[in-house]
Amino acid sequence: MNRRAFLTLAALSGLAGTAGLASGCSSGPRGSDRHPAAPLDLSVPLRIPPLLHPEPDADGVRRYELTMLAGSSELLPGRPTATWGFNGPYLGPTLRASRGDRVAVTVRNTLPEASTVHWHGMRLPAAMDGGPHQPVAPGETWSPTWTVDQPAATTWYHPHPHGATAGHVYRGLAGLFLLDDDHETALPTAYGVDDVPLILQDKKFTADGALDGDPLRGTFGILGDHVLVNGTFNPRFDVTTERVRLRVLNGSNARLYHLAFSDHRSFHVVATDGGLLAAPVATDTLALSPGERAEIVVAFAPDDNVVLRTVDDGTDLAAGDLDLIRFTATNRPSPSPALPAALSAFTPITVPAGAKVRRFTLNGHDAINGQPMDMSRIDEVVPAGAVEIWEIRNNVYSHNFHIHEVGFQLLDSNGTPAPGYAGGPKDTVFVPGKSTVRLAVRFGTTTNPAAPYMYHCHILRHEDSGMMGQFVLVEPGTEDTVPRTLPTPASHGH
Ligand code: C2O
Ligand code: CU
Ligand code: CU
Repeated sequence: MNRRAFLTLAALSGLAGTAGLASGCSSGPRGSDRHPAAPLDLSVPLRIPPLLHPEPDADGVRRYELTMLAGSSELLPGRPTATWGFNGPYLGPTLRASRGDRVAVTVRNTLPEASTVHWHGMRLPAAMDGGPHQPVAPGETWSPTWTVDQPAATTWYHPHPHGATAGHVYRGLAGLFLLDDDHETALPTAYGVDDVPLILQDKKFTADGALDGDPLRGTFGILGDHVLVNGTFNPRFDVTTERVRLRVLNGSNARLYHLAFSDHRSFHVVATDGGLLAAPVATDTLALSPGERAEIVVAFAPDDNVVLRTVDDGTDLAAGDLDLIRFTATNRPSPSPALPAALSAFTPITVPAGAKVRRFTLNGHDAINGQPMDMSRIDEVVPAGAVEIWEIRNNVYSHNFHIHEVGFQLLDSNGTPAPGYAGGPKDTVFVPGKSTVRLAVRFGTTTNPAAPYMYHCHILRHEDSGMMGQFVLVEPGTEDTVPRTLPTPASHGH
């Protein structure tokens, strides 16, 4: 079965569970308060987040600084919006490092409330993970450090404060962290030229240009009717090369994107969340749920003029057909290397016979397995280095599932094996309504029975309302002896 057939199947199974929900949800995008957006001409040059790639210091450490701040951005033309960002009023710089690098980040919080910075997709010790257990109080700094040890990938960072993530991300706190490795591929690598980030975020605006929408209202929180790309409203990118690699992040609170070009051209998926595929996979549509990333390579002809769109396939989170960004090619694009036939040494995770199977049931949007998130409760204890099957059974409307620290692969959805790039390296996966997905999960080896990692739905309204659990990685053989409760955090602060 090809990818499109798989998506259609997924959408149909999702629809069955949500038909009543879409019509009954007063704040939803199909509700009566939805104003059709004015057609866009897609003419504003795409903003490219600044790149931070510091030389290693005398100790061989790459040092980055991120300051969380409140500011004002002109997201809509001529109408300033109160926003939050890293080192600037909206979004944050793109950090870059290579496999084997030692990195250190100084995170400074100048916001009026506590926040955190989580490295989504990064494999690192739990105390550096930036989840709800590592709050940074107003005026404080936090200085995580780790060694990058994973394949090249497009990862990202965003706040993860307990119960308040949706608002922090929605106001603008997010950025990319690109990882390179020595595996030589002939993919485009000129940042902002032929290796271009696309951070997709839908927003609702009030008439005077303020960000509108309570990130915790309704079933899904915010489903906006404007999509910003890298914080650019109405964007256009000028193509100067025959091929462009697009690193696409769904940085939205809830929206599901079904990406396709206006001329239905095909393109190649070269990477998913966790890094490069073994070989490029051709497709003409790509679905991304919140938190997911993909890298695609698109070929352009001289004078091409084409729009990347998201197409509503009926899934409850897709919410309308929207134009996202226009690509306009010069009349003489400079040559690009041919797309390599082989991209990486990626091989599917082999699940050992008798591997542990953990089951997670989703029955609403405020719990997993009937348990709302409790920062003092360890839900799962996993032996370091384990390979397990995690089975996610979704009895209701659309959700997705993200696991910190690990790499996983989608084995199957409702028993249908994941086709093509859907079986690539992942850390976040869409779980359509009324469906069951099975994941092959490979855990890391850094143990700490007192510092948990999170797993949760990445629809931020759901994450904030308790659809999250915690696991610890422990020495194999100690699973039954480690404590299952943690001291309750006294307060946000130190
Ligand atoms: Cu991107 Cu726990 O999050
Ligand atoms: Cu994460
Ligand atoms: Cu959810």
